[in-house]
Amino acid sequence: MRVDLLAGAAYNPAVMPSPVPTILVFDSGLGGLTVFSEVLKVRPDARYVYAADDAGFPYGRLSEAVLAERVVGVMERLIGLYDPDLVVVACNTASTIVLPHLRARFPIPFVGTVPAIKPAAKTTQTGSLTVLATPGTVARDYTRDLIETYAAGCRVNLVGSRRLAGFAEAELAGNPVADAELLEELRPCFVEDDGGRTDVVALGCTHYPLLLARFQALAPWPVTWIDPAPAIARRVIQLLGEPVPGHEADDDEALALFTSGAGMSAALRSALRDKGLPQVAVEDMPLLVG
Ligand code: DGL
Repeated sequence: MRVDLLAGAAYNPAVMPSPVPTILVFDSGLGGLTVFSEVLKVRPDARYVYAADDAGFPYGRLSEAVLAERVVGVMERLIGLYDPDLVVVACNTASTIVLPHLRARFPIPFVGTVPAIKPAAKTTQTGSLTVLATPGTVARDYTRDLIETYAAGCRVNLVGSRRLAGFAEAELAGNPVADAELLEELRPCFVEDDGGRTDVVALGCTHYPLLLARFQALAPWPVTWIDPAPAIARRVIQLLGEPVPGHEADDDEALALFTSGAGMSAALRSALRDKGLPQVAVEDMPLLVG
């Protein structure tokens, strides 16, 4: 029997089925690993499945209707296979559309990832901030609403990059792109006007923190980069509680699952192992867009 967990609930063996929860972290590709790493730090005891819908990558190019159907369909299969206690949708492009569909369909907690506009507005000194995301995320009503609600007094520069998520995948697979290509995507983030320069860039795609060191090296001037992953990990703790001493899953079983596996390589396997995912599997789910 599954029990809904209240925010902040601590482990209570009378009502909770297992002290070792199964956490499913989901993204279109490898970007969600930036969230997985933070969740792993706070719940190192949990059983993990990291699922990359690489057959659907990149989500940034999909229409809202296709994306919603795709994610609900893939989630159906994953939940059937792994029976997670909680799912982290470690993808802004998906979260800004599909969270209500997922919550209506499956009776488990979903933690989403949406652009960190509120923290960015709190951090900026010049009032000029950039949200760097996929073209899908920058076009969302959800993103516009966040700006109206939390950053109405700021000058918000929305930058939708078509190529950065792919560049991040290449970086992790051991094929880094050239500085000039990266800079071309990054340059629109930096604005200088009468009010002052951009001083905060919110990373609104979970792939982008994989490139953070390179962004910092290439930035025309220093800015604060905001990665929402630690906040997502805090939300997981609110929902599942802290680890229960004396109970933990076997690290060797943590699994990275791909819906195509087409980009698998020795370098990627080794990067996944280094990040705490020694097992790799493919659950074939081609994206059929008619
Ligand atoms: N990692 C995903 C995000 O946070 C998006 C990448 C993509 O599939 O376009 O939005």
